[in-house]
Amino acid sequence: MTTPVRADVRAALAAPDLARRLDALGFDPGDATEVRAAAAAALDRPDELTTITTAADRLVDRVGVLPPSDSGPVWAGLDLDADGVLPLLALLVTAPSVAAFHAARGVPADVSAATLADLGQQTRVHRLVHGSFGLATYGWEAGWVWSGALYRLGRLQFDLERQRTVDGTGEEWVLSTHIPRGDGLTAADVEASFAAALPFFAAHFPEHPVQGVHCHSWMLDPRLPELLPGSNLAAFQQRWRIYGEPAVGDDDALFFGFARAGTFAATDLATLTPTSGLQRAVLAVWRAGEHWHAPEGRLVR
Ligand SMILES: CC(C)(COP(=O)(O)OP(=O)(O)OC[C@H]1O[C@@H](n2cnc3c(N)ncnc32)[C@H](O)[C@@H]1OP(=O)(O)O)[C@@H](O)C(=O)NCCC(=O)NCCS
Repeated sequence: MTTPVRADVRAALAAPDLARRLDALGFDPGDATEVRAAAAAALDRPDELTTITTAADRLVDRVGVLPPSDSGPVWAGLDLDADGVLPLLALLVTAPSVAAFHAARGVPADVSAATLADLGQQTRVHRLVHGSFGLATYGWEAGWVWSGALYRLGRLQFDLERQRTVDGTGEEWVLSTHIPRGDGLTAADVEASFAAALPFFAAHFPEHPVQGVHCHSWMLDPRLPELLPGSNLAAFQQRWRIYGEPAVGDDDALFFGFARAGTFAATDLATLTPTSGLQRAVLAVWRAGEHWHAPEGRLVR
């Protein structure tokens, strides 16, 4: 375990190489410009600096604490902006602490960089969903990516976490699978990621032997193979053995399938104009009065 090193927030926000660091963290140029403007503004606002510093200290204390957990305590009592820009700055200034943890675990530099680039990726998703700059998903980023439990291995991300056993009688360490938005989910890329996952965690976290590969996603709805036969989504769904109670995934289908924030309950279906096979399929399910599901599954090897 490395000793947490507090971030020098002022120095990090004023860093002369901030543009290069944002590029390395996966930010698109437009979002990077917004981050730099927000960082410059915060340097002149003592209240914002205090908020960022408090969050940064709490984030650093959680790096390497496994299993990962909800980041609510990081933000408790802080005066955060609705767009999540102050949390984004706290994540930015603490990225070196996460990178240091990766290095201490012997994680290759390219894997560490690809993992941390999720920060820029999340602002890209935010822009897609909200049409503006921000980081509404800062809670997930802080809880999972910044914990040091999650790694991007090629097309997919995996994190080391505790999940209930398939028979529901206990808990065990698993690799949980996450699918970043991006190019088509080809079988070859997916296979390569799964092939890399177990050896990677066995090498870098040998004290937590895992009992299986897990996923909890709207992409595991069992109707996908029938609804979109021959598609990448169908092939991905068929890799999993579903278990447990079927969880409703309408909000996730809205967010990931229609790039819409908010709840399904508050969404007027008439405002959704489907432009892809997935959207047509999901909408047909909803129009039939059924729910989209987001079950849990274990990888079939
Ligand atoms: C995972 C992902 C890359 C799969 O995309 P893909 O490989 O193109 O999927 P498929 O080839 O099976 O797509 C089949 C059809 O559904 C469409 N589709 C797939 N994913 C879509 C999405 N997220 N939103 C809208 N349409 C989508 C495709 O455009 C295609 O439509 P078409 O038949 O009209 O051409 C894509 O869904 C994605 O980026 N999702 C966001 C991330 C996510 O949901 N992660 C899981 C969080 S729990």
